[in-house]
Amino acid sequence: MSEALPGLFVSFEGIDGSGKSTQARRLADTLRAAGRDVVLTREPGGSPGAEEIRRLVLEGDPDRWSAETEILLFTAARRDHLERTILPALAAGQVVICDRFADSTRVYQGVSRGDLRATVDRLHSLMIGREPDLTVLIDMDPAQGLSRALGRQGSEERFESFGEGLQQKMRAAFLSLAGEFPDRFRVIDGGRGIDAVADDVLATVTTALA
Ligand code: ADP
Ligand code: TYD
Repeated sequence: MSEALPGLFVSFEGIDGSGKSTQARRLADTLRAAGRDVVLTREPGGSPGAEEIRRLVLEGDPDRWSAETEILLFTAARRDHLERTILPALAAGQVVICDRFADSTRVYQGVSRGDLRATVDRLHSLMIGREPDLTVLIDMDPAQGLSRALGRQGSEERFESFGEGLQQKMRAAFLSLAGEFPDRFRVIDGGRGIDAVADDVLATVTTALA
């Protein structure tokens, strides 16, 4: 599953409202304008089957799934996304820009409902077995992220309703992952204007492409 492929796999990570989707879109637009072949995708989702699982995990009663079942569902969605969208694009030499990937499961399912990181990792190595070439962590103060995230309307509010205390924990967990995987993680200060953040993201990805 993890043989080298000609494309570049970039993931965006960070707490809710940190600006991942905004920056992923900006990066895709900029690279396309420069003539690159780009696939912009997201998790949970990114393939028809995984988008169906997205509805199961993000809508409805927050206590709908046990922590373990939730890990299985996110991993099932990821496996389908990988098989049908990510791997074919990488094999074709495209740049895959993914709004969240396995690091989100390590943080959200691994930390938020007890210490389940080992379970997440075992399932990952069994069923996914691939990491992004580059992971851009948009780091920011949870209070700022929360006010941005709550400014959006929508029914997918399971994890956004965590509140600031848990978001602080998530932020720390993402920073800790960046320390654990320094080769692929780049931490970017998201508490600035969209253009300033986008400039840093582009510089980081341009280096990886070169
Ligand atoms: P995420 O995908 O990380 O949850 P979004 O990209 O959806 O975050 O951004 C959340 C909200 O904040 C959106 O309304 C977006 O327009 C706004 N936003 C994103 N980046 C910035 C920024 N650097 N400064 C101010 N507002 C931002
Ligand atoms: P997303 O749409 O990226 O939310 P946001 O734009 O608010 O950052 O992701 C939806 C939610 O799913 C988000 O709260 C994080 C959560 N999530 C997990 O709990 N585990 C995962 O593996 C993934 C990919 C997302």
